[in-house]
Parts: sequence; structure tokens; C-alpha cells
Amino acid sequence: MLDFAIRVAQDAGRLLRDRVGTTIDIGHKGAINIVTDVDLASERLIREAIASHYPRHQVLGEEGGLADSSSDYRWVVDPLDGTTNFAHGYPVFAVSIALEYRGETIVGVVYDPMRDELFAAERGAGATLNRRSIQVSDTAELTRSLLSTGFPYDIRTSNLNNLDHWKNFAMNAQALRRIGSAALDLCYVACGRFDGFWELNLGAWDSAAGALIVEEAGGLVTDFSGQPFSNYMPETLASNGLIHDRMMDVLAMAKPSE
Ligand code: IPD
Ligand code: CA
Ligand code: CA
Repeated sequence: MLDFAIRVAQDAGRLLRDRVGTTIDIGHKGAINIVTDVDLASERLIREAIASHYPRHQVLGEEGGLADSSSDYRWVVDPLDGTTNFAHGYPVFAVSIALEYRGETIVGVVYDPMRDELFAAERGAGATLNRRSIQVSDTAELTRSLLSTGFPYDIRTSNLNNLDHWKNFAMNAQALRRIGSAALDLCYVACGRFDGFWELNLGAWDSAAGALIVEEAGGLVTDFSGQPFSNYMPETLASNGLIHDRMMDVLAMAKPSE
């Protein structure tokens, strides 16, 4: 099933790459939350592949929702993570495909078609970038750490807009990035480019594959207070493990309604 997920992620990724810079149709799911015809075409491709190989499996896709069944297997799919980047021709986006068995992620694949980078993991078997083993960084101090995050689409209306955490981390880390793809953020923690990542209100499709890849690369993924991560929880904190407690301290600095 890992090989199948890799093949499908690469097929969908090629579709994304071929459409960059072409005319795309843009629809709005919210004021700043867009969906393009390319998101939909990519999800269609992935759903059709799963339906023909594993017709009994459940599929949860960002655009099409949950196709439920009695199967213990559930594919969790983001057909285009980084839609805003894609729509502007900013070449940072990916396809994310995870497979859960009875609620636990057992396979995760994230493919970046612009750099031809394939991140993959199978539970218990380690994580790879283009088939070579990867590990998290060994940075032990927050002040030397490069961190990444993202902002929720309801940033204009919600108090939980992450701006408080952004400010607190900016004062305590070496530097911060906002690359616009949570799946790639997590993979960059896994391969040591980033030392840590936090975000609020991600969908399971954003984080499922990347979280397994971080864990299999020797990193740690929890909620903001250190509780074990699940794909369906609102807080994601991923790190190399060494700076995890310090990141939790900084997250705790923000007052709940600030
Ligand atoms: C978004 C990206 C972004 C994150 C948002 C996600 P989308 O996914 O991962 O980095 O900050 O929370 O929704 O909409 O491009 O698939
Ligand atoms: Ca996404
Ligand atoms: Ca998406």
C-alpha cells in the first residue's frame, strides 16, 4: 500500500506541476479560503485510483469529504496542500496521502512535484526522502532553531489566529517561516530543515501523512500541552524532540483569549 500511495501521489503531483501557470478556475470556500479546479481534478484522480485498487476502503478527502464504509482502512487525502501558493504561481505545494488502519496512521506520503521530492514513511520502518533515510535535526536550543507555522483561514474573525504565538516565537527562536503548506512544513521537520512546527486547526488531510513522517524520522508530534497527537485534534506541535518542551513553554505564554 506504501508503493501504491507513492505512485498515486506522484501521478497527482505531475497533474499539479503541469497546471502551474496555466489558466485556473478559482472558487471561494471563505473570504480567503480558495479552491481551484486543479484541487478538484487532483482529488478525482486520487479517489479513482483508490476506488479501483481498494474499492472497500474509506476515503476522507479535503474537497469531497468522507466516503464512509465498514472498512478498517481509511485514506486521508489532501490533493493540493498549498492552494494559495499554487493559485499565485508560488512553487511550494504538495500532494499528501495517508492511510489509517483502525484510526492509526500506518502509511504517509507527501510529494512536492516542483522539487521532485518524495517524503514517505511506513509505521515502524523509518522515513525517507527520495528513498533515502531521513532524521530530524539535532538543534537543542530554541534560540538556534528555525521554526515554521501557518495561519488559519478564519484569521480575520477568530481570536485563535496564531498571531500571539507567532510574536512569542519570533522573540525566542532564531527565525520563523510561513511556507504555506503544512504537509511540507512537517516533512521539513522530518528531514531537519526545520527544527519545529506548530499550527492550530489543521485538517486531518493536512497533517496525517506528515505527522507519521516526523515520528518515523525520530521526531515528536503532540498537541500544545504534550498530549499524544491524533489526526483529528485541533493543535499540532512537531519538533526534533529536543526543543519540544521549550516550544510548549512558549505556546503557554499566550493567554487563551489574547
Ligand atoms: C493549508 C496549508 C497552509 C496552512 C492552512 C492549510 P490548503 O492547506 O497547509 O500552510 O496554514 O491551515 O489549510 O488549503 O492549501 O490545502
Ligand atoms: Ca491543506
Ligand atoms: Ca488542500
